[in-house]
Formats: sequence, structure tokens, C-alpha cells
Amino acid sequence: MRLVLLGPPGVGKGTQAVRLSKRLGVPHISTGDMFREALAKKTALGLSAKEYMDSGKLVPNETTIGLVRDRLENPDCSRGFILDGFPRDVAQAEALKKILKSLGVSLDAAVYIDAGPDIVVKRITGRRVCEGCGATYHMTFNPPPEDGKCPKCGGRIYQRVDDREDTVRERLKVYKALTEPVVDYYEGVGILRTVNGEEDANEVLAAIISMI
Ligand code: AP5
Ligand code: MG
Ligand code: ZN
Repeated sequence: MRLVLLGPPGVGKGTQAVRLSKRLGVPHISTGDMFREALAKKTALGLSAKEYMDSGKLVPNETTIGLVRDRLENPDCSRGFILDGFPRDVAQAEALKKILKSLGVSLDAAVYIDAGPDIVVKRITGRRVCEGCGATYHMTFNPPPEDGKCPKCGGRIYQRVDDREDTVRERLKVYKALTEPVVDYYEGVGILRTVNGEEDANEVLAAIISMI
């Protein structure tokens, strides 16, 4: 199964991608996670992405597209993948089409997880992430333990720099201008599947499974 997950920042793409990856037995590929891992290791890629991420802007396409191409060429993607956070503008969607064509495959579906701005802001501002394993928590919906240590790996739980309110506003603006057109793009291709992302995470998962 070859899937793209679309939707505004904080809607639950990562949350659903982790579950779908387990369920379908295909890798979860998140460009945001790849940039954050690179930054944690202080590689050139990570350091070059930092200023864009911290201000809520898109990392330039010449960096991002090559990164995704390399990842999709990895043999573990031969049975499928779940892309989360890519494509994020129409140029990336066109590039993805070319990459998949060169690999002799195509997308099965683009799943659009939809929710209103109030809900996504609440989800983002309450989010906490584990430094060690990337597990995601939420201060209200899925609170981390009080000692601030991840129950899965013992890692430190922190708040993403770009989850500050002013950066969140910029991310939503960028989403509207550049990423929303990608939803229309896949509608035009005929593979768009829309689910209501305002439900709880189990219900959103069930809705996605039933659609694909
Ligand atoms: P990225 O990491 O992709 O961030 P994003 O798209 O803004 O999305 P988020 O990760 O914030 O949200 P999510 O939808 O994954 O929500 P989550 O599951 O965590 O990108 C970050 C930056 O990297 C970009 O700004 C850009 O600079 C750069 N970048 C990345 N990809 C790029 C690209 N292709 N091109 C250029 N630049 C790129 O859920 C959020 C919270 O809500 C969590 O706390 C979770 O527990 C909770 N939650 C989830 N679902 C539910 C539910 N149903 N009910 C209640 N709570 C829920
Ligand atoms: Mg995410
Ligand atoms: Zn952890």
C-alpha cells in the first residue's frame, strides 16, 4: 500500500501514520521527523533545515525532494510506504509522481485528514514529544508521566520549538497557501480520500482503514 497523508499541522498525520505503519507493515516516512533527526545529529542537512523549521517556513524543495527520493529508493519501500508531511506543495507532488514513475509504481490513495483551526491549535500547543523514540503525547488527550520521562524508552519528553504560538500561526498560513492546493491536486488525480480528523484517534484510524 502506497499512501500519502495530508492535512493541516497538528491534525494527527504522525499519530495515524505510526498506527497505519504497524497495521500495514510498511515504513512511515515523515520529512519533519527526518529533518529533526538530522538536526539532533547536527548534520549539514539538519542545520540547513533548522532556520526554516523554527520559523514555520518550508525547507527548500531542492533539499526535500532529493531526501525523499533517496528514502523511497530504499528496498524497504518496495512493498509500500506511508508518506507524512510530503508532498507539501504542488511542485513536490509533481516530483513525487516522477519518482514513483521511475520506480514503476504509483500511489494508491492520498488520505486527507481534515479538522478546523481551533482543534489543530489545541492539539499542537498541548503536544509533547520524546527525544529518544519520537513518541507523541498530549497534555490533555494522552498525558506523559509527571517525571517527564518516556515510558517507552526513558527518553526526555520536550515541546517542539515550532509548537510555540507565533510559529504555529505561520505554519497554518504556509499550509493554507502552499499545501491546501495539494489536496485539490489529488482530487483531480482521483485518489483523494477525506476523513474527519476531529474524532478521537481510534475512530480516525478506523475511518482511514475502511476507506483504503
Ligand atoms: P512536520 O513535522 O511535518 O509538522 P506538521 O506538518 O506541521 O505536522 P505536525 O507534525 O505538527 O502534526 P501532525 O499532523 O503530525 O500531528 P500529530 O500526530 O503530532 O513539519 C515540521 C517542519 O518541517 C515544517 O514546518 C517545515 O519547516 C519542515 N518540513 C517538513 N516536511 C517538509 C516538506 N515536505 N517540505 C518542506 N519543508 C518540510 O498530533 C498532534 C497532537 O495531537 C499530538 O499531541 C497528538 O497526541 C494529538 N492528537 C493526534 N490525533 C488526535 C486525535 N484524534 N484526538 C486528540 N488528540 C490527537
Ligand atoms: Mg507530524
Ligand atoms: Zn521514547
